Amino acid sequence: MELSSAQVEKIVRQVLAGMGATSAPQSAVYPATLPKTAHVAMLTDKQKFEVKEIPIPELTDDDILVKVEGAGVCGTDVHEWRMDPFGLIPVVLGHEGTGEVVYLGKNVKCDTAGKPLKVGDKIVTSVISCGDCYVCRMVPGRTNLCDNQGVFGLIGDKRGTAEGNRVNGWFADYMLIRGEGTTYFQVNDLDLKQRMLLELATVCVHALERGQSTGLINFGSKVLLQGCGPVGLTMLAVLRAAGVNHIIAIDGNEDRLKVAEKLGAKTTICFRRPDEDTLEKRVAKVKAVANGVGVDFAYQCTGAPAAAADIYSYIRRGGGMCEMGFFVNNGEYSINPHLAMCNKEITIVGSWDYSAEDYPKTMAFLKQCREMNIPIEDLITHSFPLEEMNEAMQTNVAQKGIKICYIAK
Ligand SMILES: NC(=O)c1ccc[n+]([C@@H]2O[C@H](COP(=O)([O-])OP(=O)(O)OC[C@H]3O[C@@H](n4cnc5c(N)ncnc54)[C@H](O)[C@@H]3O)[C@@H](O)[C@H]2O)c1
Ligand SMILES: [Zn+2]
Ligand SMILES: [Zn+2]
Repeated sequence: MELSSAQVEKIVRQVLAGMGATSAPQSAVYPATLPKTAHVAMLTDKQKFEVKEIPIPELTDDDILVKVEGAGVCGTDVHEWRMDPFGLIPVVLGHEGTGEVVYLGKNVKCDTAGKPLKVGDKIVTSVISCGDCYVCRMVPGRTNLCDNQGVFGLIGDKRGTAEGNRVNGWFADYMLIRGEGTTYFQVNDLDLKQRMLLELATVCVHALERGQSTGLINFGSKVLLQGCGPVGLTMLAVLRAAGVNHIIAIDGNEDRLKVAEKLGAKTTICFRRPDEDTLEKRVAKVKAVANGVGVDFAYQCTGAPAAAADIYSYIRRGGGMCEMGFFVNNGEYSINPHLAMCNKEITIVGSWDYSAEDYPKTMAFLKQCREMNIPIEDLITHSFPLEEMNEAMQTNVAQKGIKICYIAK
């Protein structure tokens, strides 16, 4: 699908109309120093980002305009770029972004945590839950399970603002924060790399709490991490910061396992090493360092069904497991429930995304990394400008490096 500039302009106008931009703005004051247009990396076809210049709507008293500094490339962005599973094309992706507030509507006094906000502050956005579904109304503190979850740069907010978020991704030089239910946080205490890792880290801080809810994660626990991509490695840093002393990391990529060691894994296992290339050999290795019986708890951080089937064998009787790798539907696996679950009486939890409430805790985690010399910033291995977002996605697909980022010029 090729889009002409006229078509893109039409889409942008439709989207802005959906956001209420055609009605008279509440505040016509638009500082002359602010740009009238934004440059965005728009996904116009599968595997095709094009840089487009789109109008920034008239700003209102409820808006925040951000000069973007950078944004992490998430596996979900790559998934959308490759296959458009959410059917969003055309869309401006990027939800792990951060930048500086350049315009603050006079009705916006503070961030979602109640911290005062001013022009010049550093900011990030978080999820937009609907407030109407069963979970939003009846299950306090679990808005990560909102049926209509929206997020800037991925899934449009479904209430009233229609698909407004489609032109409001972080792969842009300016980004507009507008709309009911939006959540955002002032992050002046964090440097750019930490701010770009914040969203990913929040996924893992949420998963830590899910794991801790079983009562099986403590200082002396042996915890296994299966999959050392950005998610698994960040999970490792979170477990270290939470005081877990012995973490066992499994992957097939030696470079990633070296990073796991740097982040504090005590044991690494590579399914390509001749002495670790069968499940039996790996289980023996795990048991050798885990009290002879297997780990207390395991985190499943791959999207691979075969890996997910293996994980039960590493867990001791009475242990537990958190499934966080299947954020997208990668298919099924089969296990023997007698051996894997019932006989071992293991406690299984799932972990899905995060709530806005998880952000302040995650900021504290990132500061804790600094104090404990956990080099989480080293996860960022590549950065690309707006014009090279296709290359950024290809780099991610080729598993070159770990965390890929967009950095604004
Ligand atoms: N739960 C959530 O909220 C959430 C949020 C974001 C992403 N995710 C999911 O987390 C998963 C990991 O994300 P990522 O960005 O780190 O992906 P990634 O593909 O970069 O990393 C996956 C890692 O798993 C390893 N792996 C593959 N098969 C393995 C096996 N049999 N044993 C051990 N390791 C194996 C790969 O070598 C790779 O290093 C994805 O599937 C994604 O959908 C979950
Ligand atoms: Zn993400
Ligand atoms: Zn909801």
